[in-house]
Amino acid sequence: MKNHNYGFATRAIHTGNAADKETGAIKRPITLANSFVLPDDPTDLNWSSAGGSLYTRNGGPNQQYLQERLASLEGGEDCVVLASGVAALSGLFFSLLKSGDHIIFSSITYIAVYRLLNELFNNKFNIETSLIDTSDIAAIEAAIRPNTKLIHIETPGNPTICINDIAAIANLAHKNGALLSVDNTFASPYNQRPVELGADFSVESLTKYINGHGDALGGAIIGKKQYLDVVRAQAQVNLGGVIAPFNAWLIMRGVATLPLRMRQHNENALKVARFLESRSEVRFVAYPGLESHPSHALAKKQMSGFGGTLAFGLHTDHNGHNQFVSRLQVITSAVSLGHDASLIVFFGENDERMYLFPKEFHGGFFRFSVGLEDAEDIIRDLEEALGGR
Ligand SMILES: Cc1ncc(COP(=O)(O)O)c(C=O)c1O
Repeated sequence: MKNHNYGFATRAIHTGNAADKETGAIKRPITLANSFVLPDDPTDLNWSSAGGSLYTRNGGPNQQYLQERLASLEGGEDCVVLASGVAALSGLFFSLLKSGDHIIFSSITYIAVYRLLNELFNNKFNIETSLIDTSDIAAIEAAIRPNTKLIHIETPGNPTICINDIAAIANLAHKNGALLSVDNTFASPYNQRPVELGADFSVESLTKYINGHGDALGGAIIGKKQYLDVVRAQAQVNLGGVIAPFNAWLIMRGVATLPLRMRQHNENALKVARFLESRSEVRFVAYPGLESHPSHALAKKQMSGFGGTLAFGLHTDHNGHNQFVSRLQVITSAVSLGHDASLIVFFGENDERMYLFPKEFHGGFFRFSVGLEDAEDIIRDLEEALGGR
C-alpha cells in the first residue's frame, strides 16, 4: 500500500503489509533465515551493498516492511531501521561526519548523544563539537562555523522536556549549508513530524512509543535517500548495527496501534501533569501541554499532542524522592519510556549533567513516562505516595 493520501491510522496499519504470497496469510511472516539464495552467477554481486536478498546484515524483509511504514508515517522519502535508537544516532553521526567537521548539538539530549559527541567523536575522530542550549536560536547562530555540517536537537528533550523550534533551526541550518537532525522519540510521528517541519532527519528510538510495549529495541532515521543510502552502507552493513528480524516484526505490530496509544498517552499525561501541578508537595512540573511550560506556545505550534512524558520534582531531599518512589504500586521505577506501563526514574542532584539543566531541576527530579493505565489509578497511586500511604 504505497498511496500516501491515506490517513495516519490507516497507514500505521496497512503500509508495509500485504497478504503473504505463498500462504495467503493476511500478515507478512517473520523471515528469520539470515541468508538468501544467490543468482546463478554471483560474481557481479557487491557483498557490501545494502538492501536486496543477500544476507540479513545487508537488509532483510522485516526491516524493509518497517522502513516503508515509518517513512510514510514520518512524511519522509526514505527510512533506515537499525538495532536501537543509539545505533541510529551513532550511525547517522558516523555516516555524515568526517575528521575536521563541526557539529552543534543540544545540551539536553539522551545521555548517549552527550557521550558520543562530547567524549568519543571529538577525541577519537577529531570532530569539532559544540554543546549549545538549542532553545536559544541566537546561541546556535553564534556557534555556527564554516565547517558546521550538522545540528542535532531533541524536542521534547530528555530529560527536562524542553522544546526547540524545529522550523527556525532548520532554516538557520540550511542558510549556513548545514543539515538538521531531530530526535523525535518523545513525540513520535503521531504528535510531531520533523521532516515536514523542514528537518533533514527525524531519528526515533523505536524502543519507546513506536513499539510501545517495552519488549523490543530498535531505531530509525527518516530522511532523504541520498543520505540514508550512506547510513545503510556504513552503519548497517559495515558497522553491523542491523535490527533482528523478530524485533522488526514486533515493532511493526506495535506501531499499528500508535495513533490509539498516543491519544491515550497525551490525555493521561495532561491529566497527571495538572494533578501534580495542583499539589503543594510538588516543586515543579515540566510538561509542554501545561500553560506554565516556558515553550507551551511553540509546542502548540509544532506538535499536535504533547506526548506522554513529563518531569517533576518534590519539595523534599534525595531520600524523600526515593521514599516516594518506594511507595508507588502501579507506577514502576525503571528506565525507558513510551511503554504501556507507567515508568518513573529519579535523577539525583549529583547527576553528572545537572549543571546543564534549568535551576528547578537541581534539587533532583523524576522523569515520568505516563502509561496507558486508567488515569484515575495513576493519579491515586501518586496521591497515596505523596500522602505517605
Ligand atoms: C530521546 C531518546 N533517544 C534515543 C534513545 C536511545 O534509544 P535506544 O535505547 O533504543 O538505543 C533514548 C533512550 O532512552 C531516548 O530517550
